[in-house]
Amino acid sequence: MCGIIGYIGPKNIVPLLIDGLKKLEYRGYDSAGIAVVDSGKLYLQRVKGKINELESTLEGETVSGQYGLGHTRWATHGRPSEENAHPHRDCTGSIVVVHNGIIENYLTLKKMLREEGHEFVSETDTEVIAHLIEKYFEDKLEVAVQKALKELEGDFAISAISTKDKEKIVAAKSGPPAVVGIGEGEYLISSDINPLLSHTQDVVFLEDGEMAIIRKDGVEFRDFDGKPLDKPAERLAWNPLMIEKRGYKHFMLKEIFEQPQVLRDTFEGRISLDSGTVNLGEIEISPTNLREISRVVIIACGTSYHAALMGRYLIETLARVSVDVEYASEYRYRDFILDQNSLVVVVSQSGETADTLAALRAVKKGNPLTLAICNVINSSIARESLGVLSTHAGPEIGVAATKTFSAQMAALALLAIHLAQIKKTIDSQESLALIQDLQRIPHKIEMILNEADIVEKLAWDFVPFSHFLYLGRWINFPIALEGALKLKEISYMHAEGYAGGEMKHGPIALIDEKMPTMAIVPKDRVYDKMLSNISEIKARVGHILAVAFQEDEDIRDRVDDVIPIPSTNQLFTPFLTTVPLQLFAYYIAAIRGADVDQPRNLAKSVTVE
Ligand code: AGP
Repeated sequence: MCGIIGYIGPKNIVPLLIDGLKKLEYRGYDSAGIAVVDSGKLYLQRVKGKINELESTLEGETVSGQYGLGHTRWATHGRPSEENAHPHRDCTGSIVVVHNGIIENYLTLKKMLREEGHEFVSETDTEVIAHLIEKYFEDKLEVAVQKALKELEGDFAISAISTKDKEKIVAAKSGPPAVVGIGEGEYLISSDINPLLSHTQDVVFLEDGEMAIIRKDGVEFRDFDGKPLDKPAERLAWNPLMIEKRGYKHFMLKEIFEQPQVLRDTFEGRISLDSGTVNLGEIEISPTNLREISRVVIIACGTSYHAALMGRYLIETLARVSVDVEYASEYRYRDFILDQNSLVVVVSQSGETADTLAALRAVKKGNPLTLAICNVINSSIARESLGVLSTHAGPEIGVAATKTFSAQMAALALLAIHLAQIKKTIDSQESLALIQDLQRIPHKIEMILNEADIVEKLAWDFVPFSHFLYLGRWINFPIALEGALKLKEISYMHAEGYAGGEMKHGPIALIDEKMPTMAIVPKDRVYDKMLSNISEIKARVGHILAVAFQEDEDIRDRVDDVIPIPSTNQLFTPFLTTVPLQLFAYYIAAIRGADVDQPRNLAKSVTVE
């Protein structure tokens, strides 16, 4: 999705904006641009393509200045091109705007503005905003922006500057995220916190219907009617080092290797080996309310949906509560039925996914209990849920979710045990045993990572293939889906995840020497059934790789390749089976030379529908 960066302060603006855009690249984009005010004159540069191409066009330029805007565009209205890239200008060229979101009524507004004499040079919805601000501009940019916003329908996070009202950036939010950085004599606006971290850790998250007027000497906050707002800054726990590669070739590889620590951080303060209990007091949903829960509905998209599917097994098995898992993009349009004893859990790494946020808002109309499992503090979904269970994964830069997926499963495991304790469906001994097994997982992941070269060697054999089938059963069925998603989203190799029991109902027709299978086969309650799947595939000359317990000697005679993992409680095998599949996808993509951290067409956070 689009990325916005704005700065006002003493530093040299052009390299600062370029650096900020690079820290937004992971959001996904196809064009980029900057606008800088230098000695009262507006300088604009845009490219179709990557930021390094924008940098090349700026080489030799002697533009400096103290404030400006940058933007990475993920095309929605209008193909990727220089003229459709942001920032966009008004007729006079004195007002520029950058925008994230979609203006639903832009064609109506464009027609009206054209009839009033405005001339357009792009196919975008965003350009309409620049001309609306021009229409209402008298002497204060923020007043013109306020008037313009009242005519917009749709989602937007915008920032604007004008040479007619100098040394000021006006930002506004209704939908996609916008966060203000409060530095020492410098102030920033951004779509997310990553570009801010090298300047400040003090931030203010704008909420829907709020504006920021950013000047050299400070920031004013107002609502869209101009009413002043008091919005104190908060200090982020994240630091600049967390968003650097630190020696890894790709952010994705670094984040795969961060998983042991991420799980330790997610468990910290929430599990007690002394008392054998899980403590989730932070979720601000009382044990009394949780005790009455008779149904859980988990809503998510993409990888977060796969984590939700895995969480269902844990909550059903441990807390004995019925669980439904729903795609947010579908659930939001359904005539769903919820009652007061339903707990709705919304899983989102970014906390800004448009469909997931929309589903949460639809659900809240019926007033059920809502719990967000998010990785970004103060994200829209976190703020709009009754309770929040944060995944302490730190910033995830790679578009493909890895460490945040494991952290989401960890959060769901904690929630399942917490619910089970409250509902007394497990006793203290069972609870202690579960917690002991859980706290051993990070070290077991380290053991798998120490043998990553096994997976890398195997990956070389499968780079030439065009298709892959992933099979899992029971609690590893979601991991088959997730493994397939990882492979396809970063290597562009087609892959399908399937429940092993479904093979006879169609997919087995796919099996031949060109369709290898990745089978997830830990020794659990469905192990024998997975062996049957393996036999059926072998009988049809299908190549099989198996992720299996290292002590499982039997499996080695039944498949072509084994990726060994340590054994663990059958409820927690997904934490271990996931890691080889993440590595497998990563190495195939890296060997293929794919853009691992920013796969084509994808965005880290899908903030538009
Ligand atoms: C996963 O690798 C993808 N990046 C994507 O499926 C992602 O999980 C999905 O867009 C949901 O994002 P969220 O967790 O931020 O809501």
